[in-house]
This record gives sequence, C-alpha cells and structure tokens, in this order.
Amino acid sequence: MREDNLNRVAVALDTSDWAEFQRWCELFGPRVGTLKVGLECFCRFGPPAVEEARRHARRLFLDLKLHDIPTTVARAISAVRDLGADLVTVHAAGGVAMLSAAVDAAGAGKILAVTLLTHLDESELAILDLDGPGAVRVCAWARVARNAGCAGAVCSPLELEMLRRALPAPFLLVTPGIRPRGSQDDDQRRSATAADALAGGSDMLVIGRPLTRAADPEKALAQLELEMARVDSASS
Ligand code: C5P
Repeated sequence: MREDNLNRVAVALDTSDWAEFQRWCELFGPRVGTLKVGLECFCRFGPPAVEEARRHARRLFLDLKLHDIPTTVARAISAVRDLGADLVTVHAAGGVAMLSAAVDAAGAGKILAVTLLTHLDESELAILDLDGPGAVRVCAWARVARNAGCAGAVCSPLELEMLRRALPAPFLLVTPGIRPRGSQDDDQRRSATAADALAGGSDMLVIGRPLTRAADPEKALAQLELEMARVDSASS
C-alpha cells in the first residue's frame, strides 16, 4: 500500500462558523496532508483563519483564486506571503504576465493555476462561448501556467489523463470535484470518485463537503482511506 494516502488529500474548510472551522482544523489537520482555506473563510475571518489552520496542518493551501491585472495580483500575493501558505491559487485565464507576476511575488510559496472551474459543464461553457473540448483548453492553460513558473494546475479529475501526458511530474495536478460514487454532486459537474482521481494520477485531491458535511466525518475519512488503498492494491 502507498504510504499514507491521506497525505494526498486537501480538506476544503468552507464555513462561516469559527467554532466549526476550529473543529475541522483539529479533526482533519493531523490526518490529511493539507488543509485548504478558501474564499468563504478568508473573506469571513481574514488572516486569523490561515494562522489557525497552520497550527494544525502539515501543509496550508490558501485558495484565493486571484484574477486581476498583474500588479494587483502581485501585490495581493505579497500581502498574504507572510502568512506562510505553501500553495496559493490564481486563475490561469489571467494570462502569462499575471501568472509570472504571481510566481515572482510568491517567494518560497508555490502558485497553482486554476484552469476551468469544475462546476462548469458543457452547457455552461457553451453559454460562455467556451464550447469545444474543454480538456484541450485546460491543457493549453495548464501549459501556459507551467511555462510561467507555476508549480501546478487545478483541473477536473476527468482531465487528468490528458494533462499528465502533456505535463509530466513534478508539475502538480490538483483535483477538486471529488465525489463518492452515488453521492450528491452539490454544485460540482465535472466530478469523479477519489479512486478514479488517484488512478488518473492526481497529486492532490481537494475534498470538502463529502468530508466536512458528512453525518460522521471520521467515518467518511476512514471510508476514503479504504477507497484509496483499494486503488493501490489493484495497481500493485
Ligand atoms: O465541497 P467540495 O468538495 O465541492 O469543495 C471543493 C472545494 O474546491 C471548494 O473549496 C472550491 O472552492 C474548490 N475548488 C473547486 N473547483 C475548482 C477549484 C477549487 O471546487 N476548480
């Protein structure tokens, strides 16, 4: 079995309730590789959310999904740099200059580029005039991100195969949109199971509601670990 599969899991701590946030930090921090502070928490609580998560996390992922002109993004990254996040997100659609400015401003921190958000399905993409094979666009944007110095890209688990072929390690492929088979999708559309994401070569599985909103989060975590272990034994 691969050593500590949960090391590849990032738990998305999306809540506006500080007591709940602290509880999740304590519960998940020691068990998984990464805690992710996203827009909801950061907008609600600000830097103390990052500081609190850092106390419990092996790795801290600050998912701000910045998308603005290069100077503004660079200054925003500089403003959060001292918080010590290991990973910070920007949108790949911001373009080469913006991505490079983010990488320069991040210092020792790593920048991940968000490609096409995983709640967008074909019909939404068509409305945005972004129709055609989504995976091709994701691949092109991820390549731009890598060339601009980003450490990795955020993509749907459905796009892993194509991306991994085009962009070998150590470029990181980070996948939200993880759902247990038969569970509700919430607002995610281009989703897959943890087993599929793992088998497809995801470096980090971002999982929020299936763990945090589970009736029994401990049990959900144990089931996830089992599901990931099964992939390992199938591939060995
Ligand atoms: O609850 P759920 O597992 O859907 O959480 C997904 C998390 O991943 C959320 O925090 C969301 O902001 C983030 N995310 C995403 N899709 C992306 C990038 C990040 O869902 N493309």
